[in-house]
Amino acid sequence: MPNELKTYLKLRPTFHIRTFGCQMNVHDSERLAGVLEGEGYSFVTSQESADLVVINTCSVRDKADQKFFSDLGRLKKVKALRPEMKIAVAGCIAQQQGREIQSRFPHVDVILGPQNIATLPELLAKTSSCVVATGENQDYHLRKVPAIRAGGHRAWVPVMYGCDNFCSYCIVPYTRGREQSRPVKDVIDEVLSLADQGYSEITLLGQNVNSYGKGLSDGMDFPALLEQIHLLEGIKRIRFVTSHPKDLSERLMETFRDLPKLCNHMHLPVQAGSDRVLERMNRGYTVSEYLDKIERLRKLVPDMAFTTDIIAGFPGEEESDFEETVKVVRTVEYDGIFAFKYSKRPHTKARFFNDQVSEVEKGRRLNIILSIQDEISKLKNKVLVGTVQEIIVEGEGSAPKNGGSTTHQMGRTRTNKIVHFESENNLAGKLVQVLIAEGLQHSLKGRILKD
Ligand code: 5AD
Ligand code: SF4
Repeated sequence: MPNELKTYLKLRPTFHIRTFGCQMNVHDSERLAGVLEGEGYSFVTSQESADLVVINTCSVRDKADQKFFSDLGRLKKVKALRPEMKIAVAGCIAQQQGREIQSRFPHVDVILGPQNIATLPELLAKTSSCVVATGENQDYHLRKVPAIRAGGHRAWVPVMYGCDNFCSYCIVPYTRGREQSRPVKDVIDEVLSLADQGYSEITLLGQNVNSYGKGLSDGMDFPALLEQIHLLEGIKRIRFVTSHPKDLSERLMETFRDLPKLCNHMHLPVQAGSDRVLERMNRGYTVSEYLDKIERLRKLVPDMAFTTDIIAGFPGEEESDFEETVKVVRTVEYDGIFAFKYSKRPHTKARFFNDQVSEVEKGRRLNIILSIQDEISKLKNKVLVGTVQEIIVEGEGSAPKNGGSTTHQMGRTRTNKIVHFESENNLAGKLVQVLIAEGLQHSLKGRILKD
């Protein structure tokens, strides 16, 4: 339906968002949705019928890049049939390749970087053929941008944006800019309002949350922020991602022991298990320092769960370096791994290293890591059989297959493992105790102790 007719009939314009990338980017989409709903738009599930399609892009690895460009090509055909449709490209690819997208894809109307989310309505109102907003916005961490979050009990809250670390493979400092921490009061106010709305689990987000507070005048640091959030009524669980091993302080480790609401799971990206590779990655720690921190945390909190990120086939990674990474995986016995083939990223130092590893070899190393981890995950899940786990229920799954009276429920342990069980009631949002009966590859099955 043409927009003029919609305006005449007083129908709300519709939008659809497609998101690629990390949790921070998924959360940026929640903010984009908040901004659009504030402007009277309503969300629709179909891209084809929306008045406005937003593609929120990720450029951290080249695979996500490719998916986005094929999506954009497909939308060209849709727009040819419905020229009144608007297309906005947001996120890290928009930030970094804005001008190129503008010239290669004239069917795009708006291009905006992660620091320009709040300006989307103004950009849409402009009548020129394509507007590009990828300028640095010095105060975007101070803005209160509304968010539309998916229902349920879990909500993400960004505490800092950007990254100052310049790992030699990583594009993030070039797309998201320098580290900027949100003021404590803004974070606390947002968590309080989420608690009021019934959210009971908060995940604090940032590229490097451990260095929260840098640049703030009140001397606040990340452990102190956690302590403040811990005091808030209504919040039952606190999590955070992502941590940088070099900034994981003794005090932060102790907060896991001291704050009962802080879930005993840490995502601690190791990236590689060889000191030589870590140095070329500019990671700022050695393998033994990393392992010492894991050991220390396990001493403080014996049932601490760890997950990690690993890059397979970083330039110059020899077979012996790779074997050291395998050794770390076996030593730590992670609860889960996100592993990726190294890919060259614009601006980064490592793209110019002249000892790149072949695609075939990267694939081989990746598969080895993943299959070793599969075995470890399975064993770790089996060890939990017979234990009682505290679960916050995420909601009802499928209807009973056997026509019985129970429904399938799903939730997560404090260590972030998925647990399936049956219940006569829909327990979404409830905190329950489940006796684990089966450990599968990627999840657990159990029986609720009190319904
Ligand atoms: N190639 C492969 N993986 C990468 N990551 C970041 N940059 C690259 C790259 N150029 C991975 C890292 C990081 C995760 C978010 O993505 O493991 O922790
Ligand atoms: Fe992608 Fe990284 Fe940007 Fe997140 S921060 S959207 S993972 S490039």
